[in-house]
Formats: sequence, C-alpha cells, structure tokens
Amino acid sequence: MLSTRLIQVGLLFATKAMTAAASKQCVEFDVPVPVIATNNYYTMPRVDSNIDAVQWALNFSVRTAPTPAERETGPKPINHTFNINAQLCVPSTKTDKSDILQIAIQGNGWDKRYWDVAVEPVEHSYVDAAISKGYSILTFDRIGTGKSELPNPYEDVQVATEVEILAQLTAMARNRTLLSSARVATTTDNITIPALNPTHIVHVGHSFGSLLITGLLFQHGDMSDAALLTGFLPNSTHMGEVPVATFEHDFAPDHDPVRFGQFSSGYIVLTSENTLQKVYFTQDTLEPELLAYTEKVKQPEAVALYASSGQAFVQPGPMFKGPVQLIAGEFDYVNCNGDCKGTYTEESIKNSTFPEASNVTVYLQPNTAHALTVAKNSSAGFEIMFSYLDTHGF
Ligand SMILES: *[C@@H]1O[C@H](CO)[C@@H](O)[C@H](O)[C@H]1NC(C)=O
Ligand SMILES: *[C@@H]1O[C@H](CO)[C@@H](O)[C@H](O)[C@H]1NC(C)=O
Ligand SMILES: *[C@@H]1O[C@H](CO)[C@@H](O)[C@H](O)[C@H]1NC(C)=O
Ligand SMILES: *[C@@H]1O[C@H](CO)[C@@H](O)[C@H](O)[C@H]1NC(C)=O
Ligand SMILES: *[C@@H]1O[C@H](CO)[C@@H](O)[C@H](O)[C@H]1NC(C)=O
Ligand SMILES: *[C@@H]1O[C@H](CO)[C@@H](O)[C@H](O)[C@H]1NC(C)=O
Ligand SMILES: *[C@@H]1O[C@H](CO)[C@@H](O)[C@H](O)[C@H]1NC(C)=O
Ligand SMILES: *[C@@H]1O[C@H](CO)[C@@H](O)[C@H](O)[C@H]1NC(C)=O
Repeated sequence: MLSTRLIQVGLLFATKAMTAAASKQCVEFDVPVPVIATNNYYTMPRVDSNIDAVQWALNFSVRTAPTPAERETGPKPINHTFNINAQLCVPSTKTDKSDILQIAIQGNGWDKRYWDVAVEPVEHSYVDAAISKGYSILTFDRIGTGKSELPNPYEDVQVATEVEILAQLTAMARNRTLLSSARVATTTDNITIPALNPTHIVHVGHSFGSLLITGLLFQHGDMSDAALLTGFLPNSTHMGEVPVATFEHDFAPDHDPVRFGQFSSGYIVLTSENTLQKVYFTQDTLEPELLAYTEKVKQPEAVALYASSGQAFVQPGPMFKGPVQLIAGEFDYVNCNGDCKGTYTEESIKNSTFPEASNVTVYLQPNTAHALTVAKNSSAGFEIMFSYLDTHGF
C-alpha cells in the first residue's frame, strides 16, 4: 500500500558499526518527474493487432524503408509530469563508496528487474553485486514499462523525453529532493533509508539504456561523473545490420491480456523464448532457467523508440569529461551481427561519441551476447566494471 509519509532520514549510518559486510536495504517508490522536451511526430503504421505488429516491423526493415529523418513530420513538444516507479538500494552500513550513487537503466524489453535478476542472485543480480562493493544504486522502470506511467507510445515515449527523465532523476538525486518528493511503496524489513546525499553519480546502461545515457552525456555532460555502458557499441561497423523484423513482436495486449491488457495501441512485445534467445543469449552461456526468467519478466516496447534514437545526439550541451567503459558481449547479435571482435576501435568511438571523455575503454565479455546479467559468468563481468570504476577513482 502506498503511504505519503516522507522517508525518515539520518541516523542509521551513524549508529551502525562498520564491521559486518554490508547487506542490501531497499525502498521502492513512485516519484513525479516534471519534463520539458521536444519529441517528433513520425510516419509509421499503427499497431492494433498482431498482424499490424508484423507489418510495422517490415515497415522498418525492408530495403526501401524510410530513414527516421524521412519519417519526421514535425516537432511534438512535451510538457508533462511523469510518474516513475523506482528502487533505491543502499548498503546497510556506511562504506567508503556508499556516497557514490549508481543510476542503472535497462534496455528495451525489460523493466528494472534486469538489474536485480531473481534467479541465483549472487551470480546475476547487479544490484546485489554493487551493494556488496559498497555502492548505492538507483534503478527505475522507464516510461512505457513496469510500474511507471504508460504514455502514448507514438508521440510521448521517445528518446528526447526519456533522456530528460534521466536528467531530472539525476538532478533530484544530487539536490536531495528525490526521496522527499517520493511516495513510498515498500521498504525491505520496515527500515529507515538514510539520507541520499551522493558525492558522485555513475550512470550504468544496458543497450537502449546505454543510448539514453549517451544522450545525457551529449546534452548534460556535466551531470555524470562516470559511465558504464553495456550492450552498446556506437561506431561498430556492423551496427544497424540486424533489422527489427529479425525478432518477432506481437501487439502487447493481444499477446498476453493478463500481463499486458493495460497497454494501448502502439505497444509491442517480443513473442517467445525462441526470439528472446536470438536477441539476448548465445549458446555457451545459456541457462534455460534464465531464458525462462527473461520470458517471465519481459516488457512491452513503445513503437516510437525505434524512430527516435537519433534524438540522443542532438543539441549538444556541455560535453562529458569523465571516464566511460563500454562492455559488450563478445557474441552480441543486436549490435555486431553476432561477433563484436574487430568491429570497432576505441579511438573512433572516442572521436565520434565521447570526444572529451578522460578515458574510453572497450571490454568484450567473453562467451556472452546482448544481455549480460542473464548470461552464465555474469558476476565476473560485473567485477570488470567495478574494477574500472575503482581504477578511475569511483
Ligand atoms: C510504411 O508505413 C508508412 C505509414 O503507414 C507508409 O506510408 C509507407 O508506405 C510504408 N512503407 C513501407 C516500405 O512499408
Ligand atoms: C508547461 O506547463 C505549465 C503548466 O502546466 C506552464 O506553466 C509552463 O509555462 C509550460 N512550460 C513550457 C515550456 O511550455
Ligand atoms: C532539484 O532538482 C529538480 C530537478 O531538476 C528541480 O525541479 C528542483 O527544483 C530542485 N530543487 C531544489 C531544492 O534545488
Ligand atoms: C514499522 O515502523 C513503524 C514506525 O517505526 C512502526 O510503527 C510499525 O509497527 C513497524 N511495522 C512493522 C511491521 O514492523
Ligand atoms: C565512426 O566515427 C568516425 C569518426 O570518428 C566516422 O567517420 C565513421 O563514419 C563512424 N563509423 C561508423 C560505422 O559509424
Ligand atoms: C581521432 O581524432 C584525432 C584528433 O583529432 C585524430 O588525430 C585521429 O586521426 C582520429 N582518429 C580516428 C580513427 O578518427
Ligand atoms: C583508460 O583506462 C584504462 C584502465 O581502466 C587503462 O588501461 C588505459 O590505459 C586508459 N587509456 C588511456 C588512453 O589512458
Ligand atoms: C568470465 O568472465 C571473465 C571476465 O570477463 C573472463 O575473464 C573469463 O574468461 C570468463 N569465463 C568464461 C568461461 O567465459
């Protein structure tokens, strides 16, 4: 049940001894996020049935498909306060990294559970891994997924708006208004969450979430101290080669009226374990139980996301000057047509996307595809990410 009480702040960190290893304390909340942004109107088929969903995918995949720029028919101003469902987890005792807040954003087809995999969490929960290293971590459902608002998927759920939501959440975390503006849904064990007062903010992305962070680093580069971008290789020579029709989508409410009945016209969802396997997994690290989990927690996608990705790179603001690590699965089908080796150079990624970054490093996680948290050996990949942060002072 929701309550409107403000989260009590303070005492916990001061009173706990610093001996025992930190465990996870989490609070889930709804927070209103005011956004002003400029989306676009795009020409594309409407999706009101499974047949429309296939026609929509072909419209974006055929040889003669219009480019996103050719689909644009004018600006669509957004001035709206979105309801965002988020989860903040902090270590139960103060650590030397607990004032570093990681803000993690998952890709399309997921909600925040991407970061907190419930199957064998010691191996697969990025949230647990971050907490055990002493970090605090915020995850949230992007608009159009999970428990957050489900706006119009043609006009409202676009990259420009999602980048601004991320910027606002980041600003609210920094100026300490995030928790005081929240309506608290649940806490683990009726705990008191300490005041959130981060000295540094690290952005962590997966796939489309990494694109949104790149948008933040282009448009508000001074809002982030460091970035870890997984499932994302801008400037890879094979990017964009695998069209969306390769993966099967249904119209979400027809696909599963029980899970997705509340989604409107224009929300699509990956159909089956078969297609989820193609998008996210590769054979050597596929655990059937994790594939089943992926099916169980999968989320719809708004159709306008596909046309609006270029919005990440418009209107550059202050450029990002911190370090960025890109972590791609060696056999990522979505980004590199199934084999990322030799498809990029760090120098051209730096020049094209993060020109002022203090460090750009690419790491290919072996035997892994597009989704890193649900691959066997994921915890070893998390170690690579934490070690990068540590080396760069976070
Ligand atoms: C794509 O959809 C638009 C809008 O419905 C339509 O005008 C266009 O002809 C379609 N193009 C292709 C290649 O299917
Ligand atoms: C946004 O809407 C509010 C009222 O809902 C209005 O006061 C404000 O001027 C609008 N801002 C812009 C930039 O349109
Ligand atoms: C904190 O940041 C948010 C988001 O930018 C802003 O709306 C709010 O006015 C700020 N509050 C304070 C007290 O600075
Ligand atoms: C939760 O904390 C409140 C305030 O301290 C207390 O009144 C309540 O009994 C607690 N509930 C449980 C289930 O422990
Ligand atoms: C990569 O970036 C360079 C600029 O550094 C640009 O010339 C090139 O076209 C880009 N290649 C791809 C595949 O995006
Ligand atoms: C990257 O930029 C530097 C400095 O402008 C230039 O010397 C170098 O040739 C560029 N490399 C690539 C791959 O574009
Ligand atoms: C970037 O950081 C990594 C360590 O995280 C280091 O190995 C590499 O040399 C750095 N690159 C540059 C160009 O300094
Ligand atoms: C697991 O991941 C680590 C870190 O990337 C890597 O060094 C190791 O080779 C991987 N193991 C397997 C079996 O892929």
